[in-house]
Amino acid sequence: MTTSVLSVASEAVPLIKTGGLADVAGALPGALRPHGVEVTTLLPGYPSVMAAIGKSRTVHRYDDLLGEEATLVAFELGGNRFIALDAPAYFAREGGAYADANGHDWQDNWRRFAALGRAGADLASGGVKRQRFDVLHAHDWQAAMATAYLRFAPAKAKCVPPSVMTIHNMAFQGYFPSAIFSRLGLPDSAWAIHGVEYHGGVGFLKAGLESASAITTVSPSYAREIKTPEFGMGLDGLIVTHADRVTGILNGIDNQTWKPASDTQLEQTFTARTLPRRLANKRSLEAEFGLDEADGPLFVVISRLSWQKGMDVLLEVIDHLVGIGGRLAVLGSGDPAIENGLQDCEARHPGRVSIRIGYDEALSHRMQAGGDAILVPSRFEPCGLTQLYGLAYGCVPVVARTGGLSDTVIDANVAALAAGTGTGVQFNHVTYSELVAALDRTVALYAQPAIWRRLQRNGMACDFSWSISGKAYADLYASLIA
Ligand code: ADP
Ligand code: GLC
Repeated sequence: MTTSVLSVASEAVPLIKTGGLADVAGALPGALRPHGVEVTTLLPGYPSVMAAIGKSRTVHRYDDLLGEEATLVAFELGGNRFIALDAPAYFAREGGAYADANGHDWQDNWRRFAALGRAGADLASGGVKRQRFDVLHAHDWQAAMATAYLRFAPAKAKCVPPSVMTIHNMAFQGYFPSAIFSRLGLPDSAWAIHGVEYHGGVGFLKAGLESASAITTVSPSYAREIKTPEFGMGLDGLIVTHADRVTGILNGIDNQTWKPASDTQLEQTFTARTLPRRLANKRSLEAEFGLDEADGPLFVVISRLSWQKGMDVLLEVIDHLVGIGGRLAVLGSGDPAIENGLQDCEARHPGRVSIRIGYDEALSHRMQAGGDAILVPSRFEPCGLTQLYGLAYGCVPVVARTGGLSDTVIDANVAALAAGTGTGVQFNHVTYSELVAALDRTVALYAQPAIWRRLQRNGMACDFSWSISGKAYADLYASLIA
């Protein structure tokens, strides 16, 4: 029998992406189908989503969804089922998914994502004709209110399925003033410590965590870390209280999109057995970034430029990186101070450091294929996907030992080298001295071609596809509906 899941997310490839959440939400339907689970993804009707809809079916019309008209539109894309929440007042606007063109959060984010949650709960609890789901799965704070509405105000009390709340990043919680509570359409009973109330305001993620039948996060290590004040961002107490409902399921990667043997974006495709062919990708990447050809390793960074990602410490070590013979190509955008700092470094080190501010999916593939090592110095990292893409592409990850980075990279220490099992370089704390030491170690490993090739091949042999994690989600759903 097929299990039917409504996945509620604020982004999913190929329709809208600002980060790894989109990769994961986009991959889940394909990851779960082999396990007898059919996923329908509910997304906000952003312009990019509405523009991609071909043949479609209106499944519901709202005259008043938290004060605005809206329509639920079902369609298929790439063999997967989607429903768009077409609500022009909330989503038909230029700018980002969460913020305007200047990076300021949309003032009405609480209403935009409460509306998404309300629609998710309606779909899952019999409020929309001919729509039935066995499980509702909400991702991050933007979807979290779906589980709260399901618990406190379902469309039909008799049709409430179990729910899963997945934390992709505890740092973003959707916290709003108490004044919005009366406009959410929730009963007074929801204004409680075990409901939506959080430090005198409304906490969307907190409400989702309190309301869901099960809580997951995206790596086993992060599942442990969020029980501590350092990583729990104020919600560690809640996670400890509900520890019996919390599991860590590692993200997989889509190994059709991220496959160097057939990646059409590359200058030259390659496999673990044809590693020398990577060189053509490196040369074309150097040309694209205006970098000199040289003997030392070409480091790449593909990242949001933020404190979480340790990009401020990256800035501090760039002079050292160049001093030991490395070169650096960065693709990213974010904190203006970091963007400016990187541009200063580029000016200081022409031919050695090159920065592309912006977002470019195809270039990110070419960087994984042409770079020697990918730097991921995150202060915390729930899972992280760029190190997984690096492993698949023979671009050796140099990562902080935290969250999903510690679960997916094997440090090439003496023991690992002796056993022939290393896949990258790890360091403990995101500080100048530890990152410098990691860079020194990487340059030394790179200078030993046989060892370096071994690291690349070991990484490329790792299976981080969805096969294991897809089953883990399917088993979790099965346990909830049993
Ligand atoms: P996060 O979601 O915290 O930003 P992840 O490592 O999980 O971190 O996912 C980031 C995703 O976004 C990856 O698919 C990565 O390749 C992509 N990405 C990040 N920055 C850029 C960029 N500037 N251009 C293209 N892709 C990017
Ligand atoms: C978040 C996390 C990242 C994770 C991604 C997908 O953006 O920061 O570590 O890989 O979600 O789960």
